[in-house]
Amino acid sequence: MKRQSTFLQALSGEVQAIPPIWFMRQAGRYLPEYRQLRAQAGSFLDLCFDSDLASEVTLQPIRRFDLDAAILFADILLIPYAMGQKLTFEEGEGPRLDPVITPQNIDTFRRRDILETLSPVFETVRKTRAGLEDDKALIGFAGAPWTVATYMLAGRSSRDPAALRQWYYRDRSFVTALIDLLVDHTVEYLNAQIEAGADAVQLFDTWAGGLPWPVLDAVSVGPLDRIAKGVKSAHPEIPIILFPKGVGEKAVEYAMLATCDGIGIDYGMDPAWARANLSGHTVVQGGLDPLIVVAGGDQMTKAATPFLKLFHDVPYVFNLGHGFIPATPPEHVAALIDFIRKGGA
Ligand code: CP3
Repeated sequence: MKRQSTFLQALSGEVQAIPPIWFMRQAGRYLPEYRQLRAQAGSFLDLCFDSDLASEVTLQPIRRFDLDAAILFADILLIPYAMGQKLTFEEGEGPRLDPVITPQNIDTFRRRDILETLSPVFETVRKTRAGLEDDKALIGFAGAPWTVATYMLAGRSSRDPAALRQWYYRDRSFVTALIDLLVDHTVEYLNAQIEAGADAVQLFDTWAGGLPWPVLDAVSVGPLDRIAKGVKSAHPEIPIILFPKGVGEKAVEYAMLATCDGIGIDYGMDPAWARANLSGHTVVQGGLDPLIVVAGGDQMTKAATPFLKLFHDVPYVFNLGHGFIPATPPEHVAALIDFIRKGGA
């Protein structure tokens, strides 16, 4: 069944007069309707595992803004949770995972049937797909193994990227074993999302920035390619978007992968450089600084204009260079969408 989704058309290489639009963290705390359901659900994890509420939250930004794609409401840390780490989200402090993974305990995290624990997520996908019009795409996602591993190793958002690099140099076989385990689980998880109805998938490598080339290749580019191959071998028609944040000119290595249908660029990347160096290999998505949407007004539309101009003759998906923050006024989001849909006028 072919859906008339402008988002899927862009990813298949069609040039469009007006790019399709979706936003990272488009569902979340900046929306009053999210905050209301979130309060009702109890914890963030309760919300992720209640398929009625999670599906409702996924659809909220589509209803409010008529976006071209919905992104499944879940989190990249659900895989570590399903593997057996206790997961909590402390208000204002971010995620906590316990116990941290060590060379001594890694074997106790093997051979768990993660799909059983994650089954409510697939239910969310089913319900959401059923609640979307045919011209709206549903994006599934997972964290990239390196990014997920940083949380599993540190037990929280890592404040010290050097420590993680040291970890890799000191105990390469352990970190590699953890990444290998995550590659396998991520393939299973994404394939199950697709079988439940996801039309495309995105892999978030939020902590890929700043790694020296051979390390980046070993912990990020290579594992993402293996995941994408595992997904493509089961579902060759499903587009895969990679978001390797902060990798600069090394983005070319991701874009050149045969398995990469789209690449998300971050707000630190020069869009003219991306147009010249990435668009020949894959479909570029995103780039706008999420903080300019907090500012709004002329500053915001001025910042969005280069993306429309530079990518007008190649397929492009409009998005941010990272997710919305809670302080984002929803009216600014509406104004941005209006500006893009009017062709930047
Ligand atoms: O709208 C969407 O983007 C879909 C859902 C989604 C969430 N997290 C919901 C969420 C997606 C795609 C993610 C990805 C994610 N989660 C990433 C990669 C992208 C990125 O932002 O870099 C990472 C690193 C995480 C891990 C994570 N989850 C952190 C560090 C935090 C706490 C920080 C924060 O913003 O509070 C979360 C919690 C989280 N995930 C929230 C949401 C809406 C906020 C939780 C709440 O409502 O209290």
